[in-house]
Amino acid sequence: MRRVVCPGSFDPITNGHLDIIGRSARLYDEVTVAVLINVEKSSLFTVDERIEILQTVTKDFSNVTVRKFHGLLVDFCKQNDIPAIVKGIRVVSDFDYELQMAQLNYRLSGVETLFMPTNPEYSFLSSSRVKEIARYGGDVSGLVPDLVHKLLIERLRG
Ligand code: PNS
Repeated sequence: MRRVVCPGSFDPITNGHLDIIGRSARLYDEVTVAVLINVEKSSLFTVDERIEILQTVTKDFSNVTVRKFHGLLVDFCKQNDIPAIVKGIRVVSDFDYELQMAQLNYRLSGVETLFMPTNPEYSFLSSSRVKEIARYGGDVSGLVPDLVHKLLIERLRG
């Protein structure tokens, strides 16, 4: 079984995330989407809401499962027998940050990190930008799954 993890905060999932998850699902036997429980960071959606959203928008991929985790990502990988992390790279500054994280994670545990270039259609996209645009009434359709679009409108303008 070739297993990988796609980790993140997913607050909320964007079409950029979904593209990386879908492409990983075509390459690997099992993809675990791991949602970080971060008590230090305030979020728009709770971890359980994010998990429910992720499960809904990935339901067409039979080899994708969604889990939450806290602590170190490499510990989650070890506990679940996952040898590699997939990270999407949008721009060079992402690589700068992710390279150090990948090297650190490898040093800590031997868990590998595989970089996947983001679809250029989404290279400008992030969850925080999506939230900011939606908060001020901008149109985020096409940038996030339809379900997320609907939930953002409900939550931010509700
Ligand atoms: O979507 P994000 O917020 O950019 O995702 C970041 C995430 C969850 C992948 C990263 O913060 C992470 O792996 N956190 C877990 C703690 C950890 O393992 N840190 C690295 C070693 S210091």
